[in-house]
Amino acid sequence: MNRPAQRLDERFFAYRGGSLCAEAVPFDELARRFGTPSYVYSGAAMDDAYAAIDAALETTPHLVAYAVKANGNLSILRRLGRAGCGMDIVSGGELARVLAAGVPAARILFSGVGKTDTELRAALRAGVRSIHVESAPELDALEGVAHELGARAPVALRVNPNVDSETHPYIATGLHDNKFGLELPIARSLLPRILASPHLSLVGLGCHVGSQCRSPAPIEDAVAITASFAAECARAGARLRLLDAGGGWPIRYGDEVERIHPPADFGQAIRRGVERGGAAGLNLEIAVEPGRALVGDAGVLLTRVLYVKEQAGKRFVVVDAAMTELIRPALYQAYHAVLPVTEPDPRAGRAPADLVGPVCETADFLALARPLPPLRRGDLLAIRGAGAYGASMASNYNGRPRAPEVMVDANLMQLIRARETIEDTWRGEMSSSVSIP
Ligand code: LLP
Repeated sequence: MNRPAQRLDERFFAYRGGSLCAEAVPFDELARRFGTPSYVYSGAAMDDAYAAIDAALETTPHLVAYAVKANGNLSILRRLGRAGCGMDIVSGGELARVLAAGVPAARILFSGVGKTDTELRAALRAGVRSIHVESAPELDALEGVAHELGARAPVALRVNPNVDSETHPYIATGLHDNKFGLELPIARSLLPRILASPHLSLVGLGCHVGSQCRSPAPIEDAVAITASFAAECARAGARLRLLDAGGGWPIRYGDEVERIHPPADFGQAIRRGVERGGAAGLNLEIAVEPGRALVGDAGVLLTRVLYVKEQAGKRFVVVDAAMTELIRPALYQAYHAVLPVTEPDPRAGRAPADLVGPVCETADFLALARPLPPLRRGDLLAIRGAGAYGASMASNYNGRPRAPEVMVDANLMQLIRARETIEDTWRGEMSSSVSIP
């Protein structure tokens, strides 16, 4: 646990004059205006991440479809949408968000293992680019809904390539014993019926092997398998347009020992995979669905020290943020770099501390045995890598209102989500009873 922090990207969050800043705005100022805990995003970091991912695929027709689940804030969706980004959604709620943010339906891919008929209907009505089918019964449901609407559903089959993404088991999705995708023989068996249906049109194939992939190799392998199946589908008469290589492009959280591959390596691996699979001649549009690589490193969770206590020879730093704002450490033992907002004096040294929140769970920690400088009540800390799967996985557990989200652009601060009030947290909790006859 006591691993040395690797060098983080300092272009968007860096110390200036002894104070940590988001672009040109010191975090002390952000804390004064918006309180703590709060999420702070750098707009330039998101723009930069999008540009790098887009550039990684520039030699191929492509669609970067942001995995909305990473952070569905409307302002972020609007920002990425205006830059030309598409969206990978997994629910009717995300569909509505993306449409509300003004993203054209033709840039929306609908993934997910359990879509309801209502969600399928909404997606067809909106005119999304493709609906990624993950099981035979889902194909039945989609066909039924398309029939009812007199439509032809654009189907992409999500293949489960049985490739190990070598990541945390909870975020690995490409192995046969995961719930995701279709094993190749099953996908193959669906082909004739899709091709024969007046309500289905096979427009693409997809795969996604997992998140925070340390190496592009598993993605290349998965793409090669999917591409080879694409060639097979084309031979069977399918007019495929799209090959979706999924997300999983990594970011640096601060404990990585090995090099984190840049987007260009992933772009290359995907192109190699298409060639290896023998699908280069199909001129398929390549879609990718990165979530964290677009927004993860653009966000910080800003928190204030409430208490410092020593117990059993350990130093506990109790802060006002918790697993309710960032569940990744509790759920995946994830490491997030912690930076004091006031630049520490190197002479003061560092000693291990557990950074814990106020929630009544032993798993409510943000960092364990982390070498941190001396801290006292009132000090501010910035937890890096909180732009993805921070706010989007937040909860009201322990009666905690959700934290605000602030977007910084140079010296401009924009509140893009207000802090919840206590009343917000119980909205909808009315008593109305019905009895069965
Ligand atoms: N596409 C599909 C089909 C996915 O299931 C996911 C993530 C993504 C794209 C985006 O993955 P990314 O590029 O962000 O790694 N809550 C976890 C991550 C779960 C992701 C589930 N699916 C975390 O905090 O690490």
